[in-house]
Amino acid sequence: MEKQATINLEQQFQDRVDQDIRIEPKDWMPDKYRQTLIRQISQHAHSEIVGMLPEGNWITRAPSLRRKATLIAKVQDEAGHGLYLYSAAETLGISRAEMIDQLHTGKAKYSSIFNYPTLTWADIGTIGWLVDGAAIMNQVPLCRTSYGPYARAMVRICKEESFHQRQGFEILLTLSRGSEAQKAMCQDAINRWWWPSIMMFGPADDASPHTAQSMKWKIKRFTNDELRQKFVDICADQVKILGMELPDPELKWNAERGHYDFGKINWEEFWQVISGNGPCNKERIAARVKAHEEGAWVREAATAFATKRAQKQSAAVA
Ligand SMILES: [Fe+2]
Ligand SMILES: [Fe+2]
Repeated sequence: MEKQATINLEQQFQDRVDQDIRIEPKDWMPDKYRQTLIRQISQHAHSEIVGMLPEGNWITRAPSLRRKATLIAKVQDEAGHGLYLYSAAETLGISRAEMIDQLHTGKAKYSSIFNYPTLTWADIGTIGWLVDGAAIMNQVPLCRTSYGPYARAMVRICKEESFHQRQGFEILLTLSRGSEAQKAMCQDAINRWWWPSIMMFGPADDASPHTAQSMKWKIKRFTNDELRQKFVDICADQVKILGMELPDPELKWNAERGHYDFGKINWEEFWQVISGNGPCNKERIAARVKAHEEGAWVREAATAFATKRAQKQSAAVA
């Protein structure tokens, strides 16, 4: 009897998804749907927050006041993205403290890309162009994802991401028209960030076991390989405007497919970085833990203030 009831609920849930009716926090949902979303949204939130680190360390070194102000605004946007996303995940029944704890103890993942170092100013341009560019490609379809709070958070995030992508491309365009040294710096940054950027779409479809279920639930609208191909096609054309090259000798237009063919991705590197062995994994988590510990007094003060105010209000009511 109870089993039959669950089957009916699941059918009703799937019908709503099929009709593109958004699922809201108080609606019934399969437990696996909830868990998948908690994992995906919290990973996404962590990526925004950890993503502030490689760029934050260039704020004081950005070459002009204009570049500094723009970079501060960008890094601040990423903090905002993290906050909307933590809030969206909280509607599924997990607390902020639990999510932060999972990040700090290594239980939760974040995007592999933020474990690479930012060595030169050109890296900041390249991150904007390629990393925020890949993020947009991933995130625009999420504006139509089946879970309401996630979809709504993504609308604003995507608007801000397109500003990030443009500021990055503009940095590179300036460098690409500069001195020989600046051009070389620009090409070197593209060489180092290209492959990690296309890894951002996640494992190839045949190595991504959750894709089919996520597509059925309309959490995902396109597969990893579909999005990666779109991204390669766009970048292969944009890099020509910069007069630079993507570091892939196999990159070639395929008229039959109507897409660019590209070389083999080093998945071994991807899995190494994901499992904590990238160039900066330890440094990133150490920076997050330090910031959390140093912010303890703020959380304590805010809690004490809220308690006092609640006491005052209840005294006034009495
Ligand atoms: Fe972001
Ligand atoms: Fe961004």
